[in-house]
Amino acid sequence: MGALTLKTPAEIESMRQGGKILGSILRELGTLVEPGATPLDVEYRAAELFEKYQVTPGFSGYKGYPNICCIAANDHLVHAIPTDKPFQKGDLVKIDCGCILDDLYTDAAISVVAGGEEAASATTRNLSAATKKALNLAIRLVKPGTKVGDLSHIIQKTVENAGFSVVHELTGHGVGYSLHEEPTILNYGKKGTGIALKPGMTFAIEPIVTAGERFIQTLDDRWTIATRDGSWGCQWEHTVLVTENGHEILTA
Ligand code: MF3
Ligand code: CO
Repeated sequence: MGALTLKTPAEIESMRQGGKILGSILRELGTLVEPGATPLDVEYRAAELFEKYQVTPGFSGYKGYPNICCIAANDHLVHAIPTDKPFQKGDLVKIDCGCILDDLYTDAAISVVAGGEEAASATTRNLSAATKKALNLAIRLVKPGTKVGDLSHIIQKTVENAGFSVVHELTGHGVGYSLHEEPTILNYGKKGTGIALKPGMTFAIEPIVTAGERFIQTLDDRWTIATRDGSWGCQWEHTVLVTENGHEILTA
């Protein structure tokens, strides 16, 4: 884990550009999640898009990770290696990608339903909406002086009020010179605790939420993290910059 760093204006500009590209790449990849298509189809398109935009995938080779994207369906939460198993109508699919431009990392993830929102169960729709809301409410609090624990608290409160659980072991994190820097942003916690945010800090906020219990397991491929109880999970993630008087979402 890298140290907590404040980025210079030039570094922020690189992260802004890289983050914007990452946002566009994820948006396009999301449209490929259709019944019958496979995670590997998405991975191959990701390779083309990183090439097209002349940016470097942020996950490939990270701790030996073999792919560009993590693509996790249903009870698989995160860090899932893309397979050739076709998506089925109604699957909840998480696509998580990192991007490097000028040696600076950004990190973002989306959740999409194979076959479109209408194909999802009511629980799945609510799960995704609650996770996204938790992310957005946390982002709204980002400004100088806010404590990291304030973000953790609002994520937990939003998710649990909706009847879902946050995974304790998976966290948001500083990002920039490396994929994971300080501070760690827990998805549960108490208001007013932890360090205060400062202008120039950049971090990824990523609520990871399950419809059932919060407990997780790592599968036999040694990467994929799934729920223990088989309940479905969701993830939304953005890289955010703390500005002088608020914030900017770098991966919008
Ligand atoms: N977005 C993921 C995270 O912050 C990064 C996945 S690392 C990989 O934990 F090695 F799985 F790619
Ligand atoms: Co991340």
